[in-house]
Amino acid sequence: MFDSIIKDKLAQRDNLGLLRRRIVADEISAAYLTVDNKQYINFASNDYLGIASDNTAETLLATEKYKDKHLTAGAMASPLVVGRHKIHQELEQLLLDWVGAPQTYDCLLFGSGYSANTGVISALFNDKNKDALLVQDKFNHASLMDVGRNSQALGHCRQLRFMHNDLTSLASILAKSAHDKSARDIQNKLVVTEGVFSMDGDQPDLLQLTQISKANNAWLMLDDAHGIGIHGQNGAGSLSAQKMALTDCDILVITFGKAIGAQGAAVIATKQTIEYLTNFSRDYIYSTHLSPLQSAAAIVNIKNIQADDWRREKLAENIEYFKTHMSQCKFTLANSNSPIQPIIIGDETKAVQLSEQLKANGVWASAMRYPTVAKQQARLRITISAAHSKQQLDQLIQQVSA
Ligand SMILES: Cc1ncc(COP(=O)(O)O)c(C=O)c1O
Repeated sequence: MFDSIIKDKLAQRDNLGLLRRRIVADEISAAYLTVDNKQYINFASNDYLGIASDNTAETLLATEKYKDKHLTAGAMASPLVVGRHKIHQELEQLLLDWVGAPQTYDCLLFGSGYSANTGVISALFNDKNKDALLVQDKFNHASLMDVGRNSQALGHCRQLRFMHNDLTSLASILAKSAHDKSARDIQNKLVVTEGVFSMDGDQPDLLQLTQISKANNAWLMLDDAHGIGIHGQNGAGSLSAQKMALTDCDILVITFGKAIGAQGAAVIATKQTIEYLTNFSRDYIYSTHLSPLQSAAAIVNIKNIQADDWRREKLAENIEYFKTHMSQCKFTLANSNSPIQPIIIGDETKAVQLSEQLKANGVWASAMRYPTVAKQQARLRITISAAHSKQQLDQLIQQVSA
């Protein structure tokens, strides 16, 4: 039975210092975390703008506009069965306007970013009889890698990974893999990258990625989970930040669980592609739709994000402060200008030890280890928020430098 496999695998992980344990927090906000009645400064949340912490359930529910809309917590069924609520449509339109989508584009909501990514890729690669190629940055999120691996195992595509943010490596893979076994051109090619990499905080050169993809007749999919809200005009995301149009990529994924401070995700693409996903994305079809209450929360938060330039300004100031004061520290910081500021430790056990040492001194910073990152690439994934004060940043810097 499974008992011995389960026991062995857990013991193996434990011996390698890789065992994960769940914790219960009494209270979580962007700046603080309380566990077992002890308060920590929180450097592990993705509430980069502090919006999730400011707009709690009480403030959201009191929002005048949504008071009389009879918004339910649950969507009651898949959107294709009971229909989607007007609040979903309002959120879709808000997102389309935010990212500057033309009339020919549409938006589809999902319950999570993980589901959006698997829903898109498994729908695009769902045919055993077609030769298809999926090319991903080596550091792409697990949701993207998992669905790619599964699609390849089903014989629906070949998945290749290019060296992280290395566009020569991407161009070379695309050039070498342009043909199938019978020397015919491969028709269906998808390049996938992130706007801001979740474990490294760095960003790709989107203009070059677009150019290389187009030159090789490949579509480009951008997962902007960590770019939306933070970068670009009014927080419109990585494309806007790099002075590019939405139409420069073929599929955009936005998640609501990071800077937007809610839950869920959206896919934005041409109307035809969205119609295709509506019909072929199993994650969309066979799952209860995004909660109407969550959709309202996302709308309220996005409107705040668009209006509150001070949040992005304060965040940028905090990131700059952290980087400047950390430059004397013995550890290496990654090359990141985003709220994700990993301190690279390497050894897994040492990363956990440092994380525990910080916790003992009232600072919460999670150690990221294999398999979340590569072996011997363990790190503290520090996340900076607009909600942090200079004193809190100083405390982190002092603790890490000690
Ligand atoms: C780049 C990226 N994409 C997708 C996801 C998944 O999003 P969600 O948490 O909404 O499932 C994450 C979450 O960490 C992520 O970092």
